[in-house]
Order: sequence, then C-alpha cells, then structure tokens
Amino acid sequence: MDACTIAAPVAASAAAATGLVRARLIAIRYAAEGIHLYEFAAADGPALPPFSAGAHVDLHLPNGLVRQYSLCNPQHETARYVVGIKRDPASRGGSSYVHDQLKVGTLVSLGAPRNHFALHEQARHTVLIAGGIGVTPIACMAQRLRALGASFELHYSVRRREEAAFLDVLAGPGLHLHVDAEQGGAPLPLRELVARAPQEAHLYCCGPAPMLDAFEAACAGRPAGHVHLERFAAATPSAAEGGFTVQLARSGRSVFVPQGATILDTLRGQGVAVQASCEQGICGSCETRVLAGTPDHRDSLLSDEEKRANQVMMVCCSGSKDPVLVLDL
Ligand code: FES
Repeated sequence: MDACTIAAPVAASAAAATGLVRARLIAIRYAAEGIHLYEFAAADGPALPPFSAGAHVDLHLPNGLVRQYSLCNPQHETARYVVGIKRDPASRGGSSYVHDQLKVGTLVSLGAPRNHFALHEQARHTVLIAGGIGVTPIACMAQRLRALGASFELHYSVRRREEAAFLDVLAGPGLHLHVDAEQGGAPLPLRELVARAPQEAHLYCCGPAPMLDAFEAACAGRPAGHVHLERFAAATPSAAEGGFTVQLARSGRSVFVPQGATILDTLRGQGVAVQASCEQGICGSCETRVLAGTPDHRDSLLSDEEKRANQVMMVCCSGSKDPVLVLDL
C-alpha cells in the first residue's frame, strides 16, 4: 500500500516505547518490472511478531513517512518479513523513497502486523483475485492455502507479463495468470469467474479500485461474510459533518466535533493522543471501541456485519449518527 501518511517521524530509539519493532533491511530483490521485494529481520532478537496471511505492517521510513505494506512471505516464517513495493509514478515520498533511498542494512521501525483481510482457512473452496500490486497479500494467502492442502484458485491479472511478480512461488495448480496485453486488452472476466465459484466459496480480491468495485458488484448475491476485499485508498469520503459530542470514557472528558473536522482532528486538537496512520480508513490503526452511540462508518475495513454491530469504529474517517458518541478512550 502506498496511500497513507502521518506527519511525525518515529526515531528508532523510541521504537520500544511505542510498541514498534526495530528491524533491519537485509535484502532487496527484483520481483517484476517496477516491483522490488524488501526483506526485514528483527534488529534486537531472532524473531519478529507472528502474522497471518493477509496481514500488513506499518513501515516507518527514515524520512518520517509511514506506509502500510502487506506481508507476502509464508506466515510460518518468523525470522523475516517480506514486502513487495511497486514504484508509484504518483508517489508522495513512500514508494519512490523506498526504491531510491532504502539501502540494505538500514534500520527501520515496523508496527505490529494487523489483519483486516484474514483468510478463512476452513472454507471448502477459496477464490483469490489479484490485480497488479494487489497480489502481495494474495500471494501470502495462496502459499498458506497450498501449505494447508486447501482447495483454491488464484486469478492474477497484470497488464503485461513483465509486471507479474511472485510467479516463482505461485506457479502450480490453481494459478490462472491473465495478461491483458495478450488478451487484446480485455480485462479479467471477473463477473464470469465469480459466477462460476461454488456458492459456499470464500472470495478475496485486492487490486485497483475499478477491479474492487467490479468484484463487489459481481459478488452482490453472495453471503456478505464470504466476500473479502482490501483497498489501497479510501472508497468513501471521511465524515466531516460534525455537530456531535464525543465522550471519552476513560478520562471522563467530552469534546465537541465541529463541522469540517473529523473525530481524529478534534481529539488531536484537544491534546488527546490517538494512534493513527493512514487517516483514510484503510489501515485499522485508529480502531476504537464504541461504548454507546451509533457511528457513521466511513472506513473500508469493517464488514457490513461489523459496522452494524457498532462495537468498534475508525475515528480517522467515521462520524456519528447520534448527538453523543461514547468511546473507550
Ligand atoms: Fe488508518 Fe484510521 S488511521 S484506519
């Protein structure tokens, strides 16, 4: 992912105090045109925190930016994290910095792995759909399913063959590579392959926004709990209507969220420390428990069921449907 920024740099020496892990970049490898693999190992011990397929980490870059990247190595590996990063022509200092400046041996801080795109390992059949660099979490999932001996199919779409990464680990039964340029420019026939999937299948998609929108539309008739996607950028504008009060249960404080501000903006303005990273509802770092009230969910992470449950919310982008919202802060 290359869509998220926070302003404050995080010094390596502060890592332990902030729950971050110090890690050293130990290898950079070419994966495909414009895509490099970056391999990190713990700087202060033999192992990194465990993760599961679909997880991502915050990478705190030496230039002060923080970016989220999916882990793409097998989840049983605890000695290393591997992330695949594509140079984004419109990079705001994340992927371009990584490609141009990050050298083997560099120390960075990593956040603990978070997973809002978790694999349902017990599914009778799994359909994985990846577009472009969206293959990074999907590659980890495919390796996990193969290790489990589970039934799955992987549809990986790239514009040109040179842009296809991970073919060395993905090759084998179940892989269907779709190269647009070799199909007369035709995109992946998403609707057809979703329609072909057994009704009990779990389906996962990660890729550019038009692909995700098409995937959601194609899956409209399927059980919501069987449809999973991960976005690189917000699908819905943040709630900035304001006009409600947030009560902070732990401190007993109340803050009024004015029009034009998010909850996160307002809390920061009042000196309340809240963890946040992407600030657009796609990373999960600002997830906060809701104790009372009805959030106006605007994130791209929670499922419809989770949103209806109103037990947690992303305070960076979501607002309130009630005059008062009580949060576990
Ligand atoms: Fe990323 Fe809120 S800061 S979801």
